[in-house]
Amino acid sequence: MTVAPPQKTAPTVHVFADKTALVAAAADQVIELMRDAIASRGRCSLALSGGSTPKPIYQAIAQADLPWDKIYVYWGDERYVPATHADSNAKMTYEAWLSHVAIPADNIFPVPTDTDSPQTTADQYQQTLASSFGTTLPDTPQFDIILLGMGDDGHTASLFPHTAALNETERWITVGQKDEQPRITFTARLINQARQVMFLVAGASKQAALSQVFAADADSATYPSRLIAPKGELRWLLDADASHGLPTTVERTVHQLTP
Ligand code: 6PG
Repeated sequence: MTVAPPQKTAPTVHVFADKTALVAAAADQVIELMRDAIASRGRCSLALSGGSTPKPIYQAIAQADLPWDKIYVYWGDERYVPATHADSNAKMTYEAWLSHVAIPADNIFPVPTDTDSPQTTADQYQQTLASSFGTTLPDTPQFDIILLGMGDDGHTASLFPHTAALNETERWITVGQKDEQPRITFTARLINQARQVMFLVAGASKQAALSQVFAADADSATYPSRLIAPKGELRWLLDADASHGLPTTVERTVHQLTP
């Protein structure tokens, strides 16, 4: 089983009153991190999560005044469906954010799902990263920011429990599997190279998985979010409902919960 590398810094956990407060704070923090990356390195590489939680966050970020020509957007996972399909993460992101801002098309790197197989797509996306970052194996591209969600089962990106994708330690991009649906996903290796990783988790349905992800000794194959231990900073942004799953021993910053 892949064991996460030693965490350089302990994760920080932030709890917000409800999903609305989480969304507002997450947007503010992502905007600040993008500005920091641009100030430090002249550009920001950002990998996005799919799912329902991030959509209002993307809508909020679209309102920001940012140097869009210095921001480079990728997806941490994608369903193996056409870009026009209702399940496409890229479709959701364009509708919520990217079609509303002046980001150059050359700065956006959707996962190419119009190929003959999910493996071909994974190979092509890995090559896209190699070209974008000027990185070759055995090195690993370093994203400035990676946004992640967590499923009720503890998956993240498209790293689902007890799937082969969890054991991929060489590649940056691999084929994930959700039931019968193939996915394209960042590997834990790639995610863990990032400067900033942010989990966005809301709702009571996440409590059981969160309790295991933060437990002292649960199994990473069963709760793949446990594999995420980046070299850089790891933040968990939770709403109060999700946070009730945290073990009481987990330190957290509680942000203005309503009484
Ligand atoms: C996807 C996501 C996936 C998502 C979780 C949580 O493509 O669906 O990348 O990992 O983040 O399933 O989804 P919610 O935010 O909808 O709870």
